[in-house]
Amino acid sequence: MPSATPASAASAPDIDSFRYLNPNKDRRVAIITGGNSGIGFFTVLHLYLHGYIIYIAGRTKFQFSKLGKELHLKAMQIRQQYQPQELLQERYLGELNYLELDMTNLQSIIRAVESFKYREDYLHLLINNAEVIALPYTLTQDNFDIQLQTDFIAPFLLTMKLLPILERTSDEFPDIENPRVIYLSSTGHRFAIKSFNLSSPMNYRLDFIFTWLRYGIAKTAGIHFMKMLSLRNPKILFLCIHPGFAMNTDLFTFWTSLPIIGVLFWCFFKTFAWFLGITSEQGATKVLRTSLNPNLTVEENNGKYYDSQGREAQPSRVASNMDYAARTWIWTIRELNERGIKLHEV
Ligand SMILES: NC(=O)c1ccc[n+]([C@@H]2O[C@H](COP(=O)([O-])OP(=O)(O)OC[C@H]3O[C@@H](n4cnc5c(N)ncnc54)[C@H](OP(=O)(O)O)[C@@H]3O)[C@@H](O)[C@H]2O)c1
Repeated sequence: MPSATPASAASAPDIDSFRYLNPNKDRRVAIITGGNSGIGFFTVLHLYLHGYIIYIAGRTKFQFSKLGKELHLKAMQIRQQYQPQELLQERYLGELNYLELDMTNLQSIIRAVESFKYREDYLHLLINNAEVIALPYTLTQDNFDIQLQTDFIAPFLLTMKLLPILERTSDEFPDIENPRVIYLSSTGHRFAIKSFNLSSPMNYRLDFIFTWLRYGIAKTAGIHFMKMLSLRNPKILFLCIHPGFAMNTDLFTFWTSLPIIGVLFWCFFKTFAWFLGITSEQGATKVLRTSLNPNLTVEENNGKYYDSQGREAQPSRVASNMDYAARTWIWTIRELNERGIKLHEV
């Protein structure tokens, strides 16, 4: 069972101190969405170095073999630097696998879960990392705004579909930490205003500005959902994290590539990064601290939100409001039902 020491961020240890697994003896399986770039890439790299069996869930299958080679090469370079070199005998690389999934297509998520269940019996770690930011209002084939679907509805569905396997893992491995679900939130969830309503037509007015509001709404809904799950599923640890501002990722490409005004955004993001930015690898370190720290437990930490320093933090009032959280839950289940998607856990 998990260690009893309550942890918060101040005690956030170096990721090197987390256990390095031998996948032949201790097979721990992780899924990460959007592991092919930015923070996700470095999260995968370090999980791989720690011996995890990783499923990189993404829509770019043709890139996966190139990605796998790049990750392996980087991992080997890091291993060369281990001091002392004897560490190589006790540290093993994990395994890299691809799981086809497009967050803008709910059926592809259901198929991905089926494919995963066919390949694995257990799941120890799910990292909901993939997202888009502040895109213009666009409807997906499932008839949701692209941002709401990618950043909230899709992680919701993926997690809900994986709950049975996460629970089974908890039952089968009572002597190790409870399985975890990590949701990469953002301090941008604070853009969601007090009159929080997922279906309000106001969310879709003044597209250019309200796109940031929609981002805040999607990220707030993500926090709601994790809080609700933490109450309903005590066998699994649900955590949200703001990884910090990694401005060198692909997240802001839409804004920096706009004609003319994109230059202004580029200058703004660069200046912002100069003062407050971190690298993608530093962002991944924060994610790994919540993903692997054995001192975070379901008893002490379930449903909590961590800031970029790894400290336990209070999300916005809207995100902390459990009435809103319940409303988000009911709204989402109903919307999925209307699209013919039934969830066993409602
Ligand atoms: N970077 C920051 O400053 C910052 C700040 C706060 C929070 N965060 C959070 O950190 C996480 C990672 O951000 P990042 O900066 O590393 O982003 P990023 O470099 O843009 O990576 C986003 C990932 O999401 C994937 N993705 C987007 N749409 C998808 C879809 N429809 N289906 C499958 N995958 C899709 C992308 O895959 P493709 O390559 O296929 O597009 C990519 O791998 C996000 O959840 C973000 O909210 C980041």
